[in-house]
Amino acid sequence: MRILSGIQPSGRLHIGNYFGAMRQHLALQAENEAFYFMASYHALTTVQDPKELRALTIGVATDYLALGLDPKKTVLFTQQDVPEVTELTWMFSCVTPMGLLERATSYKDKVAQGLMANHGLFAYPVLQAADILIYLADLVPVGQDQKQHIEITRDIAQKFNNQFGEIFKIPDAYILEETAVVPGIDGKKMSKSYGNDIGMFEEGKALRKMVMSIVTDSTPVEEPKDPETSTPFLLLKLMASPGELADWEERYRTGGMGYGEVKQRVYELLEETFAPFRERRKELEADPDYVLDVLRDGGLRARAVAHTTMEQVRDAVGLPISYKPAP
Ligand code: TYM
Repeated sequence: MRILSGIQPSGRLHIGNYFGAMRQHLALQAENEAFYFMASYHALTTVQDPKELRALTIGVATDYLALGLDPKKTVLFTQQDVPEVTELTWMFSCVTPMGLLERATSYKDKVAQGLMANHGLFAYPVLQAADILIYLADLVPVGQDQKQHIEITRDIAQKFNNQFGEIFKIPDAYILEETAVVPGIDGKKMSKSYGNDIGMFEEGKALRKMVMSIVTDSTPVEEPKDPETSTPFLLLKLMASPGELADWEERYRTGGMGYGEVKQRVYELLEETFAPFRERRKELEADPDYVLDVLRDGGLRARAVAHTTMEQVRDAVGLPISYKPAP
């Protein structure tokens, strides 16, 4: 199967990105043909400092490699290395009804957060449809917040196919129920833009301080507590063994357990889970040329696929280019 997913390099990555998406990306690479990219054109809708955008893009690539992405097998690339994606975006724009985009919740959320209501932000799902469909992907592993974008992608693919012929595969979202929405320290969905996130490469005192600031209710220590609505328990669920989790669940329900104890364990598990990735990240930081080589190679491999799709698409819509493009 062909797997494809993207991450916006619009800030440092957090554990919601890891458990909600990247852990699945890495697990799926062994048995499948996987394409993962830095959605840098998408990030441009909000990050408009060139130095920052470039550093964040390389940063996310470094994160992927530190987490165990195998660049020999999996194609890791930046969105701008396949400029055909923007060409396809225009073609899709011409078959996308305004109403479909007006219903998109992420545009409304971002504007409500005070971001500039630019056209890129509004047309964001059309670009996302192009960057999924151009690679003829079967499966798109994402967190719950991307579900609507995948539905819009499917709608656009169907509209295009109905009008111009069966070119695009209709991809499925792959969302794991247990990690679909990772909560942040205030209990809402973890998000860099809500400022409630725990950085993936945070460590030591800063990490512990962050975990200890997780908001909990004021149920006294001796009283029973509901694990399923408790942020520290939900985070524990992402990392603890089934046996350990059952013990904590029992302690929640019986009472006599303070939230400080469970937060301490969340902190320890985060340190354990991410320590090997942090080490590897430090090594990669010392070798930026290696990361750039990986991206160059990935960009060429991704572009070769996009090039073949676009030749068919241009023919289908009646806009073949007049000269033979350089390979
Ligand atoms: P982005 O960059 O916001 O997030 C990257 C991935 O992390 C997931 N995620 C979460 N999952 C569970 N709980 C959370 N709290 C949480 N926060 C983030 C996201 O669901 C996503 O899978 N529009 C996309 C980027 C994109 C893309 C694509 C994704 C562009 N083109 C094509 C898939 C396919 C985005 O903004 O993700």
